[in-house]
Order: sequence, then structure tokens, then C-alpha cells
Amino acid sequence: MDDEVRKVMITGGAGFIGSELSHQAVARGLTVEVVDNLVNGNPDYLADLPADRCRLSVADVRDRDAMRELMAGCDVVYHLACLGVRHSIHSPMDNHDVNATGTIGLLEVARELEVKQLVYTSSAEVYGSACHGPVVEENELAPTNPYGAAKLGAESYVRSFHTCYGLPTVVLRLFNAFGPREHHEGDCGEVIPKFLLRALAGRPLVVFGDGTQTRDFNFVADTARAILEAGLRPAAVGHVINVGSGVETSVNDLARMVIDVVGNPGVEVVHEAARPADIARMCANGTKARDILGYTPEVALADGLRRLNDWYAKEGMTFESLLMDECVHNWVGDEVAATAGRSGAGGRLSPRPAPPARR
Ligand SMILES: NC(=O)c1ccc[n+]([C@@H]2O[C@H](COP(=O)([O-])OP(=O)(O)OC[C@H]3O[C@@H](n4cnc5c(N)ncnc54)[C@H](O)[C@@H]3O)[C@@H](O)[C@H]2O)c1
Repeated sequence: MDDEVRKVMITGGAGFIGSELSHQAVARGLTVEVVDNLVNGNPDYLADLPADRCRLSVADVRDRDAMRELMAGCDVVYHLACLGVRHSIHSPMDNHDVNATGTIGLLEVARELEVKQLVYTSSAEVYGSACHGPVVEENELAPTNPYGAAKLGAESYVRSFHTCYGLPTVVLRLFNAFGPREHHEGDCGEVIPKFLLRALAGRPLVVFGDGTQTRDFNFVADTARAILEAGLRPAAVGHVINVGSGVETSVNDLARMVIDVVGNPGVEVVHEAARPADIARMCANGTKARDILGYTPEVALADGLRRLNDWYAKEGMTFESLLMDECVHNWVGDEVAATAGRSGAGGRLSPRPAPPARR
């Protein structure tokens, strides 16, 4: 670890992966400046961290003045703030604005302030239809949806700020993270929480397509550990690195595993038409992550599913109330709008309002 790193900025730090990263950074002795506009984040996910070690500022990454003020004094920037895949299908321009334009604005501020290292969390979606098995970073890139295109645009800007201006950047291509605090709601809802909550409620699991499509599911604590390392190791600068588990699981097999973990064997699996431009295979070759970040995943899928199941039980909200925020076809704008805020909790596990900005 670079001993001179004391304070880090985490954009999107009140989100699923960002909140786990914030906890790990504080545990490593760092002070964390979280920037999140809370469009999909939850301030409660940071509430247990000491106020003098983790500060949440409610701000938009596209607000350059705010970013300049908040980034001053930060040694490392972890840029996670984003809008997701399904959002991009119903709102491609807005998605581009945050994910690509927002990133180049942030890079300009980081360059101006001469931050020591900037880590950008890109996505396996940049490989798109060119992913035919465990994929290496030099593989062809062929995103199939606007999110993948915006992430590719953003990571290209990140790489170009390194090659053109010498900004010390690292690009990580994350594969599907899963675990506690993962989104089940609205257009953020991911397959694992949606399956788990439905299995708990005894409702059918809905698979889009024939279910033979594969994904590389990586437990969120493992994903966040790799991200943290990427900002603390100068040797990572200039690299593009996959972060996944290296294990390919079909959606049909995932459905069976979830039913098994929940212990509700009567739950049905139903199939519907495929999601637009869904990718057939996704899996990481993790050699670079191991060699450069010293990273190997520790939590296997079945174990991670049990931990997520336990976490829902601990949170004390019923799966029935959480499922009120589910949107089944969550890439269809009208359906997303119709389901928004159905539970009154805004799709969050805790309905408490956001605190005022601390700036
Ligand atoms: N979750 C995954 O499996 C996965 C896979 C590949 C890549 N990634 C990448 O990892 C990062 C984190 O993903 P996540 O799953 O935690 O998503 P998330 O939605 O939980 O977190 C993103 C956070 O960014 C915030 N945000 C959105 N727009 C913002 C803006 N304009 N200004 C400030 N904050 C804003 C949201 O409120 C949210 O808290 C993203 O960059 C994503 O592209 C995630």
C-alpha cells in the first residue's frame, strides 16, 4: 500500500458497491469523502461509519465546482457514480450524460488537482457480444446496449487522460457483483435479489430468454477489495483489469441455486422473451487482477447467496414489502415509472429520508 494515501474520494459511495468500498476503506485506516446525489444511493448504508472518517456530501458528479471543492485534499479518487444498464435502455441520453460526460468532467478536475491515482469502475458490458468465455482485457470490445457504450466511452476518456496528460489512472472492468445492499428495486433491480425475494415469497422466478446465458457473479466484498487495492498500488497505473470470480454460471443454474439456498423447492421457474440485446456469455479471466492487484476471490456463489439471504432476514423488512418495489420488465420506461415508490420506501431497505448535504 502507498503509505502517503490518507484521504480518498468515492463517487457513488452510498450505492451498492460504493458503500462496501467505503466500509473497507475506513477499515484500512483511510478517511473517505463520499459524493453521491442519492438518486439510487442510500445514506443509511454509511450510517454506522464514524463521522470523522466518512463524510457524505449530497452532490452531483457533473457539478464541477462542487467536485473541485470536495476533491481538494483527496489523494485517490474512486469513481463509481453511474446510472445502470436497464436505465440506459429506456433513457440512453441521460445515461450517457452521467456515465460518460460526467466522467470526463471529473477527470478534468482530478487533473487540475493532480490527484495521485484515479480508479474508474468500468464494466464487463464493454465486451458485449465479443465475450465468448473467460475473457482477457485485450479482447475485442463490442457493447450491445447504451450503458456498455457509455462505459466504454468513459473508460476511453480515463485511459486517454493517462496517455495524453499523465494522469495516474486505473480502469477496472467489473463483472456482476452481488451481495448485501444490492438493488432489488425499479430499473436498478438485479437478477440475484429479484430471484431471492421471489423464492422467499414462493413466487415464480422469471428468466428472460432460455436461461443458458451465463454471468460471472462475484461477491461484493471481493469486488470492493479489488477496487480498493487498485487505488493503493502505484503498479496498477495505466492498466485495464478485469474483476470477477472466474466462474461462469448460467441463469438457469443460478435459479436452481437460489431455490436451494432458500429451501423452497416448490418454487417455479418461468421463461419469458429475452431482454433486448442480452449477452450470451460473460466471464472474467482473472490473471491480471491476481498479478497486479494480488487479488483472488474468496466467497463462492452458494456461500454469497446464503450471506445475502441472512442479510435480508437481519434487516427485518419482509420480502413481501420489498417485492412491492420490484419491476419485472425493468428496462421498459413505462413499467419502471409505474412501479416507482410503490412501497413508499423509494426501493430502499430503510425508508428514512436523506440527511442534508454536509458541504
Ligand atoms: N453492480 C455490478 O454488478 C457492476 C458491474 C459492472 C460495473 N459496475 C460499476 O460499478 C459502479 C458501482 O455500481 P453499483 O452496482 O454499486 O451501482 P449503484 O447504482 O448502487 O451505485 C451508483 C451510485 O451512484 C450514484 N449516482 C448516480 N448518478 C450520480 C450523479 N450524477 N452524481 C452523483 N452520484 C450519482 C447513485 O445514487 C448510486 O448511489 C458503477 O460505476 C457501475 O457501472 C457495477
